[in-house]
Amino acid sequence: MTNRQQAGGYRAVLTGASGGIGAAIAARLAPHCALLILVGRQRPLLEELARQLRGCDVQIVCGDLCDPHTLGAIAATARASGGVDLLINNAGVNSFHAFETQDPATIRAQVETNLLAPMLLTRELLPLLGTAPNAQVINIGSVLGSIGFPGFAAYGAAKAGLAGFSQALRREYADTTVTVRHFAPRSTRTPINSSAANAMNRELRNAEDTPEEVADAFMAFLAGKAATQTLGAAQRFFVLLNKLLPAIPDKAIGKQLVQIRKHLPR
Ligand SMILES: NC(=O)c1ccc[n+]([C@@H]2O[C@H](COP(=O)([O-])OP(=O)(O)OC[C@H]3O[C@@H](n4cnc5c(N)ncnc54)[C@H](OP(=O)(O)O)[C@@H]3O)[C@@H](O)[C@H]2O)c1
Repeated sequence: MTNRQQAGGYRAVLTGASGGIGAAIAARLAPHCALLILVGRQRPLLEELARQLRGCDVQIVCGDLCDPHTLGAIAATARASGGVDLLINNAGVNSFHAFETQDPATIRAQVETNLLAPMLLTRELLPLLGTAPNAQVINIGSVLGSIGFPGFAAYGAAKAGLAGFSQALRREYADTTVTVRHFAPRSTRTPINSSAANAMNRELRNAEDTPEEVADAFMAFLAGKAATQTLGAAQRFFVLLNKLLPAIPDKAIGKQLVQIRKHLPR
């Protein structure tokens, strides 16, 4: 049992459970849970995942997180199951595309799914989380929320917003039993990345993790006390450099623009 875990295990909500990183987290988290509520839009995938999980009560909420009814259904399931003490806002969407010609609906979907939905779900569950002796909200961000990158303007903006939300809410709840944390993977081999994004990553030799590696790092983060974590030593250095001396990443990324544009849908 970790320092934050309740006796009997976590009582967790995991969004994006049917995705690459979500399913890998679910597999590792389930043995440490008393209750695990899996959220996604594809019931067959969630049911298949639930069949594979052992050691805890598994519940499914199927719905779109951009629909307020889904947020209400998650809260109702959490209440009916006896409460929750861990919310993992992991669901996300990403579209690698030239910003000027990106469909407004796609821009909106990225902001709504990656930023607004986690904010509103957190708001919905805070009263319940506040009744647990110790509770945490963990928002899954991205390195691209700290380092703006061509082709990811909308996604990066939403993930930067999620990092800001996590920090402000953590400070707002500093004198309560609820902790708000932020975990930012780097590029990971999952369906969220289009073939164009994968081709660009290969050409730029960007480091890529497997979902299992990310889930292992997540479990270590969950057991620890850090408020935030970015995966990858090189990425952590680049994030710091980007904060202190942004002109250096401006120049470095500028030198990659010809290669990036080769792959960027427009
Ligand atoms: N893979 C990477 O390179 C990478 C890097 C950094 C950060 N991340 C972040 O890691 C998280 C997990 O991503 P992933 O790589 O595992 O992607 P993924 O395999 O595409 O999974 C995304 C998950 O989010 C769910 N989802 C998306 N939109 C939703 C909506 N409107 N309502 C409900 N569920 C929704 C999907 O459910 P459906 O089955 O319903 O589609 C799916 O379960 C995301 O927040 C992503 O931004 C990923």
